[in-house]
Amino acid sequence: MAVGCEIRKWVVVCVVVLVVNLRHIGAQGQPQVPCYFIFGDSLVDNGNNNNIASLAKANYMPYGIDFPRGPTGRFSNGKTTVDVISELLGLGDIPPYATARGRDILRGVNYASAAAGIRDETGRQLGGRISMNGQVNNYKNTVSQIVNILGNESSAANYLSKCIFSLGLGSNDYLNNYFMPNNYPTSRQFTPEQYADVLIQQYSQQIRPLYNFGARKLALIGVGQIGCSPNALAQNSPDGRTCVQRFNNANQLFNDRLKSLVDNLNNNLPNARFIYINAYGIFQDLISNPASFGFRVTNAGCCGVGRNMGQITCLPLQTPCANRNAFLFWDAFHPGEAANIIIGRRSYSAQSASDAYPIDIRRLAQL
Ligand SMILES: *[C@@H]1O[C@H](CO)[C@@H](O)[C@H](O)[C@H]1NC(C)=O
Repeated sequence: MAVGCEIRKWVVVCVVVLVVNLRHIGAQGQPQVPCYFIFGDSLVDNGNNNNIASLAKANYMPYGIDFPRGPTGRFSNGKTTVDVISELLGLGDIPPYATARGRDILRGVNYASAAAGIRDETGRQLGGRISMNGQVNNYKNTVSQIVNILGNESSAANYLSKCIFSLGLGSNDYLNNYFMPNNYPTSRQFTPEQYADVLIQQYSQQIRPLYNFGARKLALIGVGQIGCSPNALAQNSPDGRTCVQRFNNANQLFNDRLKSLVDNLNNNLPNARFIYINAYGIFQDLISNPASFGFRVTNAGCCGVGRNMGQITCLPLQTPCANRNAFLFWDAFHPGEAANIIIGRRSYSAQSASDAYPIDIRRLAQL
């Protein structure tokens, strides 16, 4: 009898503790929008390449060494920029398309795939990947599931109109296409200006079906300074420190057109709001004043091989640098968590007038 009371008392205590904890979680992360859909490449992939036959994978240690769940497929020691944005939106972890099931998709889905580009052939030399066209098809599949869950198309359209969409592609169309003349003919077919034009043209055709399938709040993330990655420095910078201007100039041509595309889409797609995130400019800030952001090393990866630790990406079970937050780059191509936190925060809440155009993600969410 006494034992029974004791047990019952504990059950009551446990239930009370559980309820208080759940309340606490709710209050902490009151979502600002119901959902967040992510399109992109290895900068934001969170596991879609894990079961694809590809050289572009990161589901092994020490990737994820600072991530609570360890290696997940993220190309970072910890969080990616979209993890940071998602947290600030109050949504928490967004599932990768590869494993998202059931009602989980109502919080959003991450379609990003390492090595993917706007062009279908981009990244082919690395193996399988889900190009932007494939990601758009996967999104359409998600929408039909959402229609089933919510009952009809108009409820689904109303729901999706409140969600944030972020798109960050283009880096691989340079890195794993245009600037790889032995594998791809594009640099012989197009001048850098023409190539930026064809990429933006194709991108805008991929964005239209997202709009037709409900997207109304879209953030287009520009490409960063590919010419400053440890890999670019290792292969093309005489002093291993001066960024490769030819790469960065091409990236700027793309970004200028992407920003114009935002105006164009805002003028032509009723009830949609597009914004541009100036990842290039934010990155420029980090690389020009590294010390003020706590970085000591900007030209070498924390984990990698060879010159600038930039010849290839971080190998399985390799020991990374000790002070990971002091390195802008985690590996040959990808910024580490410390940089991703700054880039993610400034995308969400602009700290300089040029970070986001015409508004930042925080205000996009409030519309
Ligand atoms: C769609 O479903 C909602 C919620 O169940 C309902 O209120 C609405 O009338 C439905 N609309 C149509 C067009 O069937």
